Amino acid sequence: MSDFSKHILVTGGAGFIGSHVIRLLVHKYHDYHVINLDKLTYAGNLENLKDLEDAPNYTFVKGDITDAEFILELFRDHDITDVIHLAAESHVDRSILNPMEFIMTNVVGTVVLMNAAKAYWSGNWNGHRFYHVSTDEVYGSLGETGFFTEETSYDPHSPYSASKASSDHFVRAYHDTYGLPVVISNCSNNYGSHQFPEKLIPLFIHNITNNKPLPVYGDGKYTRDWLWVNDHARAIDVIFHAGKNGSTYNIGGFNEWQNIDLIKVLCKVMDTKLNREPGSSEKLITYVKDRPGHDLRYAIDSTKLKEELGWEPSLQFEEGLEKTVDWYLANETWLNNVTSGNYKAYYETQYAQR
Ligand code: NAD
Ligand code: DAU
Repeated sequence: MSDFSKHILVTGGAGFIGSHVIRLLVHKYHDYHVINLDKLTYAGNLENLKDLEDAPNYTFVKGDITDAEFILELFRDHDITDVIHLAAESHVDRSILNPMEFIMTNVVGTVVLMNAAKAYWSGNWNGHRFYHVSTDEVYGSLGETGFFTEETSYDPHSPYSASKASSDHFVRAYHDTYGLPVVISNCSNNYGSHQFPEKLIPLFIHNITNNKPLPVYGDGKYTRDWLWVNDHARAIDVIFHAGKNGSTYNIGGFNEWQNIDLIKVLCKVMDTKLNREPGSSEKLITYVKDRPGHDLRYAIDSTKLKEELGWEPSLQFEEGLEKTVDWYLANETWLNNVTSGNYKAYYETQYAQR
């Protein structure tokens, strides 16, 4: 008989958001056993969880969510009671270069996990939950005004968002058809520590530090709604425990920024932190060819999450951005380790023609 009240399988826990979710769960719930399943792709990094290596309620397992036999065995070996599913191919630009990997991991992998949950829990849904972590990109693009609500129709434009939209549909279908106890959340752009430097903020911090050009897509007037990653992890904790079965929750910061304005603020913070002459980082801004199918604007209405479950973001953007910059500057080894090897080949392909 196990001493733990739950055995939670967290997929993609060695990635950016997953590592924050795992840290929160392991520290906060000593009676939960947290099993981190991760394939350790280029985006997965066990250094992200080094501080938890010896925690008695944490186990790491290396594996692929598309491997059906292995996943079912994992459910049996660890008597999995719940799943928080974050594993994914998560970068829009890479999805444009190689869509098939996104279909495999994001769509097939999600269905494989649900099949294992359905088989292992075999209709006894009590005390079980399958939490699917998704994105606001499934809703497509907004014009100058308005917000995405949980009722907004799906309209994905990139292979990444199409794969996430497809996985969301499968999760709802498994709830409606088989009764699988699911919950879904759709979150806006996250920023914070441990994010792989292919996404805007860590990439630009890295390039400014190394005096490299800052490649702004198109006219830079695209708008994103930014949320501190720890606030996303807090929201996942709340929804996992109190979200309504079969429900969807939007998560966002009511914090919209045009890319170019955000980049200019980041440049100012970096000038200060690096003791550089004011304005020197901005000189690195270089307008490059636009991303194909680039969504103009995302903005999340997270009123439902606030009113039903009492969640609100905890941090102002300026404070979060400064904390984030501080972390990257203090963790240069982390950044250098993840930017060696395959990263270099990706960077050259992605930005060569721009
Ligand atoms: P990430 O790319 O940093 O991490 C993904 C993790 O999944 C990595 O550790 C990787 O090794 C693992 N993984 C990939 N393929 C796998 C496979 N086949 N089997 C097992 N593990 C595999 O991603 P992230 O930014 O932390 O995003 C996590 C989740 O949150 C994703 O589902 C993403 O769609 C969603 N999301 C991200 C954001 C954001 O701004 N980053 C916003 C909203 C939603
Ligand atoms: O909205 C949530 C989504 O946010 C998540 O689902 C994705 O996993 C996550 O990657 C993120 O997607 P984006 O495409 O919005 O993030 P990215 O950091 O790649 O780009 C943010 C904006 O900055 C976008 O408008 C494109 C622009 N950009 C990005 C890069 C990497 C540039 O102008 N130059 C760049 O070099």
